[in-house]
Amino acid sequence: MFHKIEEPVRQLSLFGVEPPPKKKIVNVASVKQLSPFRYPGGKTWLVPTVRQWLKCQKHKPSEFIEVFAGGGIVGLSVANERLSGHVTMIELDPEIAAVWHTILSDDAQWLAKEILSFELSIDNARRALERTATNTREKAFQTILKNRTFHGGIIAAGSGFLKSGENGKGIASRWYPQTIAKRIRYIETFRQRITFIEGDGIQYMREMAHRQDVAYFIDPPYTAPGKRAGSRLYTFFEIDHEQLFDIALTLRADFMMTYDDAASVRKMADSRNFHIATVPMKGTHHNEVEELLVTPVPKHIL
Ligand SMILES: C[S@@+](CC[C@H](N)C(=O)[O-])C[C@H]1O[C@@H](n2cnc3c(N)ncnc32)[C@H](O)[C@@H]1O
Repeated sequence: MFHKIEEPVRQLSLFGVEPPPKKKIVNVASVKQLSPFRYPGGKTWLVPTVRQWLKCQKHKPSEFIEVFAGGGIVGLSVANERLSGHVTMIELDPEIAAVWHTILSDDAQWLAKEILSFELSIDNARRALERTATNTREKAFQTILKNRTFHGGIIAAGSGFLKSGENGKGIASRWYPQTIAKRIRYIETFRQRITFIEGDGIQYMREMAHRQDVAYFIDPPYTAPGKRAGSRLYTFFEIDHEQLFDIALTLRADFMMTYDDAASVRKMADSRNFHIATVPMKGTHHNEVEELLVTPVPKHIL
């Protein structure tokens, strides 16, 4: 079991306690973009932090568990850089799951070719999405098409095609077939290091709680009042956060949990003696916002 360690006392200056040095926003362009998704709430900007965290572990985790995978950039980066023995990604949404099942199977090439040969127009996109998918790989194609042509990458009900998009290019503004196909093919080269599970990440944590040789990355959908509306972003957004924190308390291995900075989250973390750090990131409107990182013990890298 982990115990909370007191914060080190900061240097005293003439004027009292020195403020901590300002943390820099990560330039996401510096992170290798491996995911075929443009995922709402995606954690590309957290990849350097996760990398440092894992590199500082005494023993390389034998399994890195990405509990709420979404676009999977963290798990993919860990697998690509061999920062753990294996990576397990879990996602409940069947549309997103179809993409991971396909990319991690022999159908990856089919999906890449389908994306490359698709002639994007509003009519073609409508027709492709109206069709009933008869198998997993067709559903995967529809999901990528939606994710890349819908507003904000949001595929949940209520979303729809980008209207003006980037530079007035409309639905084509985020449809980069060459890039998406290249990423799919690249993931295929290290797919044996990843296991994907379509299911409930919380249940998986319960089953793994006794293990000491793993590490968890926990990025749940969050819907604090007045905060970014997880309910608008994801089809599956309902989580019992108190229960999630209780399960985190039973984990024998290290974890990193990320949340919007909200008083309710700080309270849940404090009451369980977890450690809280903040990391700056660029918000949707290019403003600087702070995201919370909750960990069982303080991390010197944060
Ligand atoms: C904040 S997003 C994760 C984003 C991801 N870290 C990324 O970088 O793209 C949360 C994800 O959790 C998924 N989800 C919701 N409930 C879940 C559950 N019980 N088990 C697994 N995944 C779940 C949602 O569908 C959504 O994709």
